Amino acid sequence: MNLPKKKSPVRLSVLGSGKGSNCRTILSAICAGQLDAEIALIVSDQPDAGISDIAREASIPFLSFPETRYRTRLSEEQESRLVAALYNHGIELVVLAGYMRVIKAPLLSAFPGRIVNIHPSLLPQFPGLAAWKQAIDAGATVSGCTVHFVDEGIDSGEILGQETVPVLPGDTAESLHARIQIAEHHLFPTILQRLCSALRPNE
Ligand code: GAR
Repeated sequence: MNLPKKKSPVRLSVLGSGKGSNCRTILSAICAGQLDAEIALIVSDQPDAGISDIAREASIPFLSFPETRYRTRLSEEQESRLVAALYNHGIELVVLAGYMRVIKAPLLSAFPGRIVNIHPSLLPQFPGLAAWKQAIDAGATVSGCTVHFVDEGIDSGEILGQETVPVLPGDTAESLHARIQIAEHHLFPTILQRLCSALRPNE
């Protein structure tokens, strides 16, 4: 009897600067068989960020860039080292999950159309930092999250999917962000699975 061949998992690298709840959700989706991928490398610009715990717990290789000359990005030399590490680990898709540095040319040109980001607003509304606070300050009644391809702009690449959440009376920036994160944890693995299937069309 010929059993159906299992697809080879798409090799992801997850980059993050914070607690890593999106990275954790991606890992859970993989473990639950809902995402045909594996996290082959976790990267952070913050060596002690929560996302590093996930790498340790799950025995996933972890790379960090503790010394950064610029506040908003890695140096070109660091980004080139990052690209080399991504190649060495056979990474097929780069996943930005709360990664707070701007991506520059070495990485963008090494992975054209292969870098995705999650952003906590309904883009093109509220790009940039603390989008949940921008939504509260602007008096928005609806917010949400967006998964998009990364290009050279700030949160400007092609949109792959969005999920909305209401902004409720009395919401603070924190309570709204918490609600957006619940939506993120649903949207991100769903879109990643779509991309992973597209990368393995004939298996
Ligand atoms: C997420 O809400 C993500 O959308 C946001 O950082 C948070 C990271 O949470 N990203 C940005 O604001 C990027 N501009 P996590 O570390 O728990 O995944």
